[in-house]
Amino acid sequence: MKTFLLLGLLGAYCSALSTKQQRRFPDDFLIGTATASYQIEGAWNEDGKGENIWDYITHNNPTVIVDESNGDIAADSYHNVERDVEMMRELGLDVYRFSLSWSRILPSGFANEVNEAGVDYYNRLINEMLKYNITPMISLYHWDLPQKLQELGGFANPLIADWFEDYARVVFSKLGDRVKLWITFNEPREVCYEGYGFTTKAPILNATAVGTYMCARNLLLAHAKAYYLYNNEFKTKQGGQCGITISVNSFKPLTDSEEDRAATELKQQAEWGIYAHPIFSQEGGFPKELVVRVAEKSAEHGYPRTRLPQLSEEERVLIRGTADFFGVNHYTGYLVSATRHTPEYSTVSLLSDINVGTYRPVEWLQSAASWLTLMPNSIYDVLTHLKNKYNDPIFYVTENGWATSPEIGLEDDDRITYYRAALESILDSLDAGVRLKGYMAWSLMDNFEWLAGYTERFGLYEVDFSDPARPRTPRKSAFVYKEILRSRVIDHDYEPDTAVMTIDEGH
Ligand SMILES: *[C@@H]1O[C@H](CO)[C@@H](O)[C@H](O)[C@H]1NC(C)=O
Repeated sequence: MKTFLLLGLLGAYCSALSTKQQRRFPDDFLIGTATASYQIEGAWNEDGKGENIWDYITHNNPTVIVDESNGDIAADSYHNVERDVEMMRELGLDVYRFSLSWSRILPSGFANEVNEAGVDYYNRLINEMLKYNITPMISLYHWDLPQKLQELGGFANPLIADWFEDYARVVFSKLGDRVKLWITFNEPREVCYEGYGFTTKAPILNATAVGTYMCARNLLLAHAKAYYLYNNEFKTKQGGQCGITISVNSFKPLTDSEEDRAATELKQQAEWGIYAHPIFSQEGGFPKELVVRVAEKSAEHGYPRTRLPQLSEEERVLIRGTADFFGVNHYTGYLVSATRHTPEYSTVSLLSDINVGTYRPVEWLQSAASWLTLMPNSIYDVLTHLKNKYNDPIFYVTENGWATSPEIGLEDDDRITYYRAALESILDSLDAGVRLKGYMAWSLMDNFEWLAGYTERFGLYEVDFSDPARPRTPRKSAFVYKEILRSRVIDHDYEPDTAVMTIDEGH
């Protein structure tokens, strides 16, 4: 009797497993990879390109980069258009997301002078992709501001909204006949908090008390201007979509207490709500609890006014609803506590304003990047949370990926584990009715990982940075990803033959 029951249970378990394995990615669901200009292009001063803030930081302050490296050559994608597209064809990608270097197109940052050689690089890349039916998705801004604009304040200067609109007009006019998926900004939090409020991204301003908030307001207005520009002057003719990509980590309360749940809400508002709420919520504007909290903390520290600049009524309405889709970059997550945190925050900053602690259980798989662990089901949690919070928008997961150390080489089993888990979570999200249209792995190839230089690798393809030709070699994960793209299912038992990478028919 017992044996029968066990067998029966085992049978049910196996059939549940195999049904799960049969779940398919819909045919119109776009699966791809992502990169960013400064991280791969190189050719930092070729053919008229101007200096950007990463050129400036890495040349003038090289010790802030772990291995004192820079993106002068990086993966040299500027000279490798055909090989880059060949890798996309090997994988069988539906979509490839990349960003434009503002200072390659407008060397001074301003739109009075367009560098046609720079535009031509993007034309060649796009045209090569389109030959093989690979859909381009372009981010206008992925962190490489022209240095001249930084010297004028960058995102702390409200005029950035006009400068960005001018740049966007040049781009839409030149490339919009062939590109239908536009992202204004990649990860405002990393631009504003890390670059202006802290020290982990260029321009490393460390203006802890005010930098994040000044930048957030101006960046939102820049986004809205570019969105309306596309909507009013280009959309009818070109027929594309324009959205924004926000980094959304998963935050869950450490305990079930009311304090921890409130702390989690505030943490979410400070991390991504400050950018998402003004655009995607019905009411618009900055998240309420955060507004109240920063005002209180500002008064406590003797500031005559709140450090979070207000949005006027007109601006609140202007920014609200300015996205055709919500781009989500998702990597990891944390548990949030209202009380347990070390050390105490000693300087006035976004962190001391919200004053909560974050934790990660040791059993979560750790990557080569200290900030990146595998939190189970975190993409599902994030997408369903955002769906409910923001009235069911269209989503793309525009980045998701895993870091290995350079020594790992091509045998990247942890990356495979991570992608399979993430993609199961994506299928769960589709089953739950999330209007998710695509998924992009970060990254197509190894690249310059900001302050970590070349010490953390995210590529499906390994790049040999010691070889002037920057050869690209598929990792084991590239073969697994290719099989998922080919079959449109996740086979957890698939063991690739990694001897030869080929291009399948039709690619
Ligand atoms: C950033 O600013 C804070 C507060 O002023 C200071 O304690 C810290 O040392 C600064 N960090 C760097 C890397 O300059």
